Amino acid sequence: METITIKDKNFAVSIPEKEILRQVARVAAEINRDYEGETPVFLAVLNGAFLFAADLLREIKLPCEIHFVKLTSYQGLHSTGTIKEVIGLATDITNRPVIIIEDIVDSGMTMAHILNTLRTHNPKSIDICTLLLKPGALKVQLDIRYCALEIPNDFIVGYGLDYDGLGRNTRDIYTLCN
Ligand code: IMP
Ligand code: MG
Repeated sequence: METITIKDKNFAVSIPEKEILRQVARVAAEINRDYEGETPVFLAVLNGAFLFAADLLREIKLPCEIHFVKLTSYQGLHSTGTIKEVIGLATDITNRPVIIIEDIVDSGMTMAHILNTLRTHNPKSIDICTLLLKPGALKVQLDIRYCALEIPNDFIVGYGLDYDGLGRNTRDIYTLCN
């Protein structure tokens, strides 16, 4: 099995690129079907969702916009629980259908925070589109309409996700080895 070392930790491939792209295309097809006749505003959450957003958008056949927001909550392997908004919303989403693009929903605290903030702008609708979901780690109730892959409650890196800022630039997704 292919492994990589980032700083002091070893990681092994758990989701190969081919499977990621297959699931990304499936989710995009669902969005193309569900949003027919609409012009959604995609809001990608930086940094982790940048590769997912790029691959997803290339499969979207609808007229659409994409914008980026930036939040941070993780330090090393653990969520700090405090969410910091680093780049805010730079577009008017009033009365518009919004699709949030996230890399991963873990505790769900970040997503709950984003939803609360966006709702104050009175969008027409908000849907969540996440690359990864850890159902075993979810601490808040969230209605996740689009999810590419469900994973166990392990720490992962790659395809946009990082360990202490490193490891975002891999095509496959890797899981921390014990
Ligand atoms: P939540 O607020 O606990 O749902 O955490 C969400 C954020 O934490 C994600 O957007 C990621 O940036 C980060 N995160 C959660 N789990 C992992 C992981 O396994 N690897 C890398 N980052 C993660
Ligand atoms: Mg993130």
